[in-house]
Amino acid sequence: MTQFNDKVAIVTGASRGIGAAIAERLAADGFTVLVNFAGSAAAAEALVGKIESAGGRAVTAQADISDPNAVARMFDAAGAAYGGVDVLVNNAGIMTLAPLADSDDALFDTQIAINLKGSFNMLRQAARRLRDGGRIVNLSSSVVGLYQPGYAVYAATKAGVEAMTHVLAKELRGRNITVNSVAPGPTATSLFLDGKPQEVIDRLAKLAPLERLGQPDDIAAAISFLAGPDGAWINGQILRANGGII
Ligand SMILES: NC(=O)c1ccc[n+]([C@@H]2O[C@H](COP(=O)([O-])OP(=O)(O)OC[C@H]3O[C@@H](n4cnc5c(N)ncnc54)[C@H](OP(=O)(O)O)[C@@H]3O)[C@@H](O)[C@H]2O)c1
Repeated sequence: MTQFNDKVAIVTGASRGIGAAIAERLAADGFTVLVNFAGSAAAAEALVGKIESAGGRAVTAQADISDPNAVARMFDAAGAAYGGVDVLVNNAGIMTLAPLADSDDALFDTQIAINLKGSFNMLRQAARRLRDGGRIVNLSSSVVGLYQPGYAVYAATKAGVEAMTHVLAKELRGRNITVNSVAPGPTATSLFLDGKPQEVIDRLAKLAPLERLGQPDDIAAAISFLAGPDGAWINGQILRANGGII
């Protein structure tokens, strides 16, 4: 039986992958969860059904996070339905890899639009509207630190997310709102797996001393901690959840 906590959480990019695991975990923790997605409506609806069957509360919320008006409408809808938002998990993101010399304008512009501007759009609304006592968790990546070839633009977007994490934590002084980032290492989702030969996946899986890929539930557990009562004193930090890869 879920113990509801009367708090409302938006999880962006929750139709699949890490975001879906976060939405399930926060719902099990007692949050009412807005399952944001861009295009995968059927997957988002299926996840809401699964959460409800397990005794939790969730609703789908379509919005392309790169569109500031769509993001504002999502916060409006959450306010109208639930009276406000307490937790934002800024999870939605994309990754396109190429050596910098071979990266075209579209590769740069789409990752900036979704990973960096999208996170900014969400953070701006959260800074204006999150209820006092709230929590913000951004998804960075351990590529900030590893800096492997091919990751220049993606890593740059995540470095920007980390910078905004530090600054916003200070700007929200006085409202008892924490702002942190979780930076996963290689995690078994389509973002990481698609297009990689099995030998590359196996090699990357062995890099961390724990010698396996992260699972979406590993990342959801870290976010549950930061969003829940035990994370109250953690603020302005980057938590690398990666099995020790860096
Ligand atoms: N997997 C890893 O190894 C890894 C490692 C480090 C960090 N991360 C970060 O973790 C986060 C989640 O990654 P993942 O591996 O779970 O990716 P994923 O499996 O590819 O899922 C991405 C999610 O983001 C959503 N999304 C994409 N563009 C969107 C937009 N413009 N507006 C709203 N939602 C959008 C997708 O929704 P639709 O299907 O509806 O488009 C989907 O739900 C990302 O920020 C990623 O950079 C992942």
